[in-house]
Amino acid sequence: MNVHDSEQIMELLKGSGYETTKDTKKADLVIINTCSIREKAEQKAHSELGRFKELKLKKPDLIIGIGGCLAQQLGPKFLRKAPHLDLVFGTHNIHRLPEMIRDIENTRSRVVKTSFHESVQSLGILALPRNGSVSAYVTVMQGCDNFCAYCVVPFLRGREESRKPQDIISEVSILADHGVKEVTLLGQNVNSYGRTMSGCHDFSTLLNEVGRVEGIERIRFTTSHPKDISENIIGCFAEVANLCEHIHLPVQSGSNDVLKRMNRHYTREDYLDRVTRLREVCPGISITSDIIVGFPGETEKEFQETVDLMGEIRFDGIFSFKYSEREGTAAIHFNNKVDEDVKSRRLQTVQSLQETHSLERNRVLEGSIEDVLVEGVSKNCRDDVMGRTRSNKIINFKGGADIIGKTVSVNIIKAYLHSLRGGLV
Ligand code: 5AD
Ligand code: SF4
Repeated sequence: MNVHDSEQIMELLKGSGYETTKDTKKADLVIINTCSIREKAEQKAHSELGRFKELKLKKPDLIIGIGGCLAQQLGPKFLRKAPHLDLVFGTHNIHRLPEMIRDIENTRSRVVKTSFHESVQSLGILALPRNGSVSAYVTVMQGCDNFCAYCVVPFLRGREESRKPQDIISEVSILADHGVKEVTLLGQNVNSYGRTMSGCHDFSTLLNEVGRVEGIERIRFTTSHPKDISENIIGCFAEVANLCEHIHLPVQSGSNDVLKRMNRHYTREDYLDRVTRLREVCPGISITSDIIVGFPGETEKEFQETVDLMGEIRFDGIFSFKYSEREGTAAIHFNNKVDEDVKSRRLQTVQSLQETHSLERNRVLEGSIEDVLVEGVSKNCRDDVMGRTRSNKIINFKGGADIIGKTVSVNIIKAYLHSLRGGLV
């Protein structure tokens, strides 16, 4: 979500005549896009902002803006905290950025805009993808109504609202006309798409419609909530030919008691059932997840249930986090907080177990031939290109710039923990 927001910010500012630079000393405008999902991200945003204080002293005309969740949370307080800051904009106000920057350029006044009144319907297509980009994100909904006990998102991104299907389809068509081959449909909980609209336009209907847009070879979506992934959505993995065989399905915990305290509205058994159905309908599907360790009250036994669940499922990859206390959430008031050293140990356990599972899952692909959409030149070697399999695994192989943007067949030679090595067929 944040990556998409940053891309939109960049493209919008290009429309206002700005260019990107890697050298911050040369910048006339600095925008820091923040996340506050966990404390660590929040600290990073504060230290990033601090870094530009000195530059502003040397260059008083420099405009510094801060956006995203932390900006939404702190609003005008941010200007008091950081006198070198010119602009604070919230998660619903990105599309107003050009006009806010113009105001600052003209009047040198400081601007704060964090209202939630902007509907997702006004999103439109903010910016076309960068030249040559083969993949693009498309927002299908914003906000979240789930109020998981640990999560600040509903407070910072507002209530759930789905975009009209015709707006989404027309955005996907425009992207396809500009050479985009792969779209990722974005929302905090895409599985509940359509709930805020009249009629029965659910996410499976939307997937079928996006699947019919000419030129779109691959569709992905994120993020899914296990309680809302219906049989119809699972069926799309068999029916919609360009829907890629990967799902990110955050489980958070393998313990029913913890899931209950987290307010997740599904059980370990429900989750296992969804995974079984996904694998029945789409045998090659890769499944990734999010796991939180050390949620308040998590006992050793409850933690072990998460470890056991991982062993049963064998995820292709996970993002794992230590529970981080967030202002405004329900869990902040829960008793029996887990000690930091216990959280660290549990995180370590989960991460090293996942390493064995990731490698094992990647090794299954050795010797097979996969369709790879080539995204660009590899980071580590100029003679290599990098792409992704439909199951969302990164793969590097020898190839020239002429195949960037194309889908090619690649033989999987070697599996590593986070990537694959291949050879062009
Ligand atoms: N502490 C730790 N992890 C969190 N997440 C969300 N809020 C918290 C928190 N307070 C994790 C969840 C979610 C992912 C995006 O971030 O696992 O799925
Ligand atoms: Fe946060 Fe839960 Fe909403 Fe995901 S579904 S954004 S974890 S409140």
